[in-house]
Amino acid sequence: DKPWTVPALADAKRDGRKLVMLTCYDAGFARTMDAAGVDLILVGDSLGMVSQGHDSTLPVTVDDVVYHTRCVAKGARRPLLVADLPFLADATPERALDASMRLLQAGAAMVKLEGAGHKLEVIRFLVEREIPVCAHLGLTPQSVLRLGGYKVQGRDDSAAAKVREDARAVAEAGAAMLVLECVPTALAAAITGDLAIPTIGIGAGPQCDGQVLVLHDLLGLNSGHRRPKFVKDFLAEGGSIAGAVQAFAEAVRTGQFPAAEHSYA
Ligand code: KIV
Ligand code: NA
Repeated sequence: DKPWTVPALADAKRDGRKLVMLTCYDAGFARTMDAAGVDLILVGDSLGMVSQGHDSTLPVTVDDVVYHTRCVAKGARRPLLVADLPFLADATPERALDASMRLLQAGAAMVKLEGAGHKLEVIRFLVEREIPVCAHLGLTPQSVLRLGGYKVQGRDDSAAAKVREDARAVAEAGAAMLVLECVPTALAAAITGDLAIPTIGIGAGPQCDGQVLVLHDLLGLNSGHRRPKFVKDFLAEGGSIAGAVQAFAEAVRTGQFPAAEHSYA
């Protein structure tokens, strides 16, 4: 049971081993996830919604993510720790470098950022400076003001082609992993086939190389928002928090989650 490394992620994809990822914000849950064999932990800026009670991720600061990353790092030894660059912390390469340095100092092994376009330059800038980067495409919650809400992305042919093109571009720019959020199953499958780096889906169908869920969603905690289709309450079948995490890991590895009812056709 050695700790995960960045190169081991691409090995897992090549071997067809599904990657199990959950968001986490503190040491206690991190310990439980480590013990349950979760491969990757994401200190997501979703903390702004599930912990801080905001109705978007936009108010989250670098200090906030640093704080939670430090907490999670105390509890997790084996999982690879990924931390989100919050809104506008990646607006320029220099800002992204400063914020990423702090996230790595807090215990992260990889930073995640949303989008392509001008972010390609940011990805290259970080990767050239030895900072592993996870990209995030499809529904990018930091785009909520432009999008006007949280909706499935890449539904029509031209939108799908754009996401597919962006996915190739972030991989080309040096991203080591790609989160695909709320895109049709067929699009996520095509992108997964295009790339050598692993794709991690959330509302992106069963054919991604791994799956991620927000901890609170896994535990059936009501956010006050409408529950998205891709969410499953694993506490109901797991019987305990540790059981819920184990049930999720098992369901991802056996391909039972996500089912058609959790995906977009
Ligand atoms: O912040 C977060 O929780 C995320 C996941 C939904 C991928 O970015
Ligand atoms: Na996020």
